[in-house]
Amino acid sequence: MSTEMRIPFHQALPKVELHAHLNASISSITMEKLILQKPHLNIQHNMTMIRKGQTRIFEECFEMFKVIHQLTDSVEHIFMVTKDVIKEFAADGVKYLELRSTPREEKSTAMTKKSYVEAVLEAIRQCKQEDVDIDVRFLLSIDRRGGPTVAMETVKLAEEFFISSDGLVVGMDLSGDPAVEHAKNFIAPLHAARNIGLKLAVHMAEIPNKHEEWEMFLGLPPDRIGHGTFLHPEAGGSDQLVDIIKKRQIPIELCLTSNVKGQTVPSYSGHHFQYWYNCGHPCVLCTDGKGVFATNVSQEYQIAESSFSLSKAQIWELSYQSINYIFAPENVKSDLRSHWNDLKPGLFNQS
Ligand code: IMP
Ligand code: ZN
Repeated sequence: MSTEMRIPFHQALPKVELHAHLNASISSITMEKLILQKPHLNIQHNMTMIRKGQTRIFEECFEMFKVIHQLTDSVEHIFMVTKDVIKEFAADGVKYLELRSTPREEKSTAMTKKSYVEAVLEAIRQCKQEDVDIDVRFLLSIDRRGGPTVAMETVKLAEEFFISSDGLVVGMDLSGDPAVEHAKNFIAPLHAARNIGLKLAVHMAEIPNKHEEWEMFLGLPPDRIGHGTFLHPEAGGSDQLVDIIKKRQIPIELCLTSNVKGQTVPSYSGHHFQYWYNCGHPCVLCTDGKGVFATNVSQEYQIAESSFSLSKAQIWELSYQSINYIFAPENVKSDLRSHWNDLKPGLFNQS
């Protein structure tokens, strides 16, 4: 094969993506389609995407989601963006994807929370029928802003789909502005979800000084932690918190570009990935939102390699180990491991 035709290493690397919010994952191409459909909203691309070299204050990111939600306010839109997002992840070499999204109702278009989830699942099924080379699962997100009542309703909805979706719905996510509401309001709904058999991914410690809240969440315990930025002692967390997480081997979803652009970490090289990776703790690189943060999974691996001086073999291992942390069952994990092992010789013979 000529040099020009070679797929770059990080793109050819088979990858899993486990922390991707649907509405934060919309590419600029899809966003353009949405913006053109609603010119009266006068939405510019910089209102929905943080480009290279740009940053935002963390709180501003949540304002961006509100803008995006104005553009995806019908089941047709949700279906379209889900298909586009899945195909883009597949083109980036992602072989297994867990998408997450907050079911939303919109009276003006008659979208209900149930039809929202149905649209996402239908898009996943269609991609499968079209032989897109990616296994996609779905987590229903609880937005902290909704408080405990809405959270419990979302758990009930998740239960319905957990039973009827033939394995597509595998878990729940707790996300939204971490400054809103208290953890104690979500412990009961998350326990209920766990009892149903749903796996739990919980955004934790995105902002500092919330030790009491973090201890409550760790008491669940979550099956994966999102971000965990301030948990370790060097970031104002504690050895005690780290010990609990290590003892339970709770994997951490680490989103380098999201945290740099949202300014919750000082720089790529100062990202807490380094702390947890050096401990040998289960780490998985994710995008958080490839659209809003203008990145993709390959790029996150490339950035990790250069920021933390990792070898290609270590990058491979990081991707391969991530299979252990997916929410789908064991047989899916072993199929993915075989797939990775089949692709490995081609990848390393390239360079
Ligand atoms: P959606 O759930 O598909 O609509 O994706 C956007 C939503 O994801 C936002 O409204 C937030 O609730 C959540 N979200 C995205 N990024 C973050 C984050 O970094 N921290 C907490 N929540 C987030
Ligand atoms: Zn997130």
